[in-house]
Formats: sequence, structure tokens, C-alpha cells
Amino acid sequence: MTEQAIFTASLSSPPVSRWLGFFPEFRQDSLGFLLRCHSYGDVVKLPMGRMAELLFRQQDFAMYLLNNPADVKHVLVTNQHHYTKNPVPPVEARIFGKGVLHTEGETHHHQRRLFLPFFHGDHVASYTSLITEKTSALVASWHNGATVDIEREMTTLTLSVIWRLLFGQDVSSDAAQIAEAVTTGQHLITKQYNSLLAWITPLWVPTARHREFSRGQEFMDGRITGMIQNRRAGHHGDQDVLALLLAATNEAGQPLNDKEIRDELVTFLLAGHETMANALTWTWFLLSQSQTVRARLAHELETVLGNRLPTAADVPRLVYTKMVWDEALRLYPPAWLLHSRVGHAEDRLPSGALLPPGAIVFISPWSMHRNARWFPDPNRFDPDRFSPEAKQARPAFSYIPFGGGGRRCLGESFAELEGLLIIATLASKVRLRLVDGQAILPNPLFTLRPNIPVHMTIESVATPERYPTTV
Ligand code: HEM
Repeated sequence: MTEQAIFTASLSSPPVSRWLGFFPEFRQDSLGFLLRCHSYGDVVKLPMGRMAELLFRQQDFAMYLLNNPADVKHVLVTNQHHYTKNPVPPVEARIFGKGVLHTEGETHHHQRRLFLPFFHGDHVASYTSLITEKTSALVASWHNGATVDIEREMTTLTLSVIWRLLFGQDVSSDAAQIAEAVTTGQHLITKQYNSLLAWITPLWVPTARHREFSRGQEFMDGRITGMIQNRRAGHHGDQDVLALLLAATNEAGQPLNDKEIRDELVTFLLAGHETMANALTWTWFLLSQSQTVRARLAHELETVLGNRLPTAADVPRLVYTKMVWDEALRLYPPAWLLHSRVGHAEDRLPSGALLPPGAIVFISPWSMHRNARWFPDPNRFDPDRFSPEAKQARPAFSYIPFGGGGRRCLGESFAELEGLLIIATLASKVRLRLVDGQAILPNPLFTLRPNIPVHMTIESVATPERYPTTV
């Protein structure tokens, strides 16, 4: 903690519109804007403009972006009870309901306590063969030399894994329709975050986007409610999340009703496959750019696995694979912006900034991970940044792909297991080559997706390496 409090009036801000505040620039180029904010200090004040001040009757109305890991730790961990999540737009509230991602206080604690044992490392390891079998089936369906849309392939794969985890059965032919509903939902959520008009327009107003969204939601809700009712009617299930929820009680000691169960299932369905598909898509993209990294990865897979599928016991030995995964999550964190937090009273951050009561705080994994203070030459793909020594040399909370504190990602252990197993299973069989002429850029929707479909060519590892490297 610095000696003197730094009052918000003396915090630096980027130049913003007098009436509309930082929103126009943020809307136009959110990722670039966040990086440009590095030069305004540890805590950057982002004025919301006169319009918001008049609308919300607040003087000096601003959000605060944190660039210092000590401040991030303070808000997410040390002083987390001082903060809650900011209200979400109606579409997001409609999709996730009162699932664990959006509740607060005792309800949220109760929900986390329910799920933590399920997502514990030892329990998730029991899903190893499910993941490797699904991945092997995907590789078997590919032909040498064929071109695939890798994001779509990864979405189908991760959806099939999470569906089994939740419902104990295969997602079958519904996968494409679910993926489409998720994409529509993502676009509408982003639109509501970016436009007050979109935020306040009720969902019953029959715009084309609203109709498409409602169709997707009805389909997904119908499928999920059907699964719940089926199970209640006596159809037996495995040790899946649905079974856990049917046996659970809420914080008032009552069994969960269908809506409560639906909200949890949708939350896990979305939080658990879309982020994974993103992370894997970016991993294949990055690997396609560096022959050196590919060669080191291939060497590790050859040494640890030879010609067999990975098992849970292999995972701790996939050291370089893990470094590649960590570095991909650094450069392209699927959760590029954590849900903004609201402080309930004045709060003095370790860097000295004194936040006023009601301050809205932005924490961005994207911005932290690309800050040259913690990651020199931040845009370079370099898995060696995650060697034990390099990790130790960095401050805690400079790397936050899974958030932190009492709201840290519940699926982190599962995500890591799934990510490593999929990379190891696929990369020991095939190389994925980026088709020439595609300008792949990150698109900051609800998660960090590529701006266009990423077309990649499948090449068996038995074929000698022949494609050039750019990194
Ligand atoms: C690479 C994959 C993943 C990434 C990068 C990721 C990232 C995150 C982040 C950053 C948060 C915290 C959000 C915040 O504080 O605003 C979060 C929360 C959450 N994640 Fe993940 N996640 C991933 C995979 C998964 C998986 C596989 C599951 C489930 C199987 C999952 C379930 C959840 C849930 C339920 C929460 C809400 C926790 C709470 O609010 O208490 N995530 N995730």
C-alpha cells in the first residue's frame, strides 16, 4: 500500500467524449482500447460522460480499470466481500437465470459448495477416457489433406464432452442447433452491453435478432427440461451433474425445482464448452504459427505417449503441453473481461487509489496478459514464459485466465484436464495447418472468438513437416 491515498480526481484517463464518455472508443475497438489504457497508470479512470451522469444522477460517474496485479488480488480475493457483480443485461439474465455464475451471497456460497466436490481434481480425472475417446473419434473422422473449420470442430467436440458430464449421454444430432443458439445469444449479449437502446428494448419486441434468439432459447430449454423430466420420471442416470442437482437442496433446505436445475445446467453447458472451444481454437492457430513450438510439443508427446492415448497418469508429465496451453490462454483468454464488479463502500487499493462507494471496477485478463510490465514482448507466442522459474518471477494475479477468489472458475481443473488431453491426443496424430490468406483476429464477444471461421488443413504427423513458420 502506498503512503498517500490517490483520489479519483487525480487518476489519469484516456481522452473520451464529453457526452458519451469512453463508450464510443471502447465499442469500436475494445481490445485495442484496453491495451492503450496501460499508459494511464495502475488504475485508469474511464469517465462515462455527461449523458450517463444525467441519466443516473451521478456526478463524476466513471468506471475504473485495474492494471496492477496487487489491486486485482485485492478486489478478487482480499477484499472480495466488498464487491458484487454489476447487473447484467436482460438477455444474459434470461440465459443464465439464477445459476452459480450470477448469484451472490449465501445462495452463491451454497451453490459453490454443492459443485466443488464434483469438479475436484480426482473426480474430474475419471473423465479422462471419455475425453480421449471423443477426441480420437474426431481424428478418425478427418482425412489427411482435408480442410476443416477448426472452431466448429472444437465446439462440437467440447459440447459432446460437457453434455456427457451434465447428462450422462451423447448430445447426438442437436449439437449444431445448440452451437447456433449459443452464437446468437453471444451476439445479442454483446449488442446489449454495447448499446443502451438494445439493453432497454424488451425481448418481446419482434426484431429479427430477438426472434432468432427466442427460437434458440426455446430449443435449448426444451431439450434441457425434457432431460430433467425424463430423469424425474425414473430414467436412471450416471454420476452426472443432473443426478447431483436432483439430489441437492437449495439454501432453504428445499429440493431444487426444474427452473433452478435448468439454470445450473445451462450455466455449466455454456461456461463449460464455449470457453474450451475458444481456447483450443486459439491453441491450434498459435501452434500453426511456430515450427519450433510444434517440434518441442511433438518430442514431448512422442516421449511420454509413444503411440498410445494419454491417461490421467500421463497428465503431470505433459509439462511442455501445459506450457503451450497456459501461453495460449495468456494470449487469447476466452474470458477477456471479467464481469465488472461494484464496490459497496469506499475502498483503498494497494496501489493507493481510493475508489468511491459504488465504483464499477473492470478487470481484464486480456489487458493484464498483454501488459509488457509482466510479459515482455507481450504479443510473442512463447510457452517458455510458463517455465517454473519464469512463473515465479512474475507477481501473483498478473495471469488470471480463470479469475480468482470466491468466484474463481469452478471448472478450472476440468478445463485443464480436457485441454491437455485434447491437445495431446490430436497433436500426436495430426498437424493443423492454417489455410493461407486468412487474417485471423480476436473478436471480443461474450468470449474471445476468432473474427472469421478458422480454416485449417489436416496433415498426418507421418507426413514430413513442410509448411513454413511465421513465429
Ligand atoms: C479454458 C476454459 C475456461 C476459462 C478460460 C474459464 C474462465 C472463467 C472465468 C474467468 C470465470 C470467472 C468470471 C468472473 O469472475 O467474472 C469463470 C467462472 C466460471 N466457470 Fe469457467 N472457464 C473455463 C472453463 C470452464 C469449464 C470447463 C467449466 C465447467 C465445466 C466452467 C464453469 C465455470 C463456472 C460455473 C463459473 C462461475 C463461478 C462462480 O461465479 O462462482 N468453466 N470461468
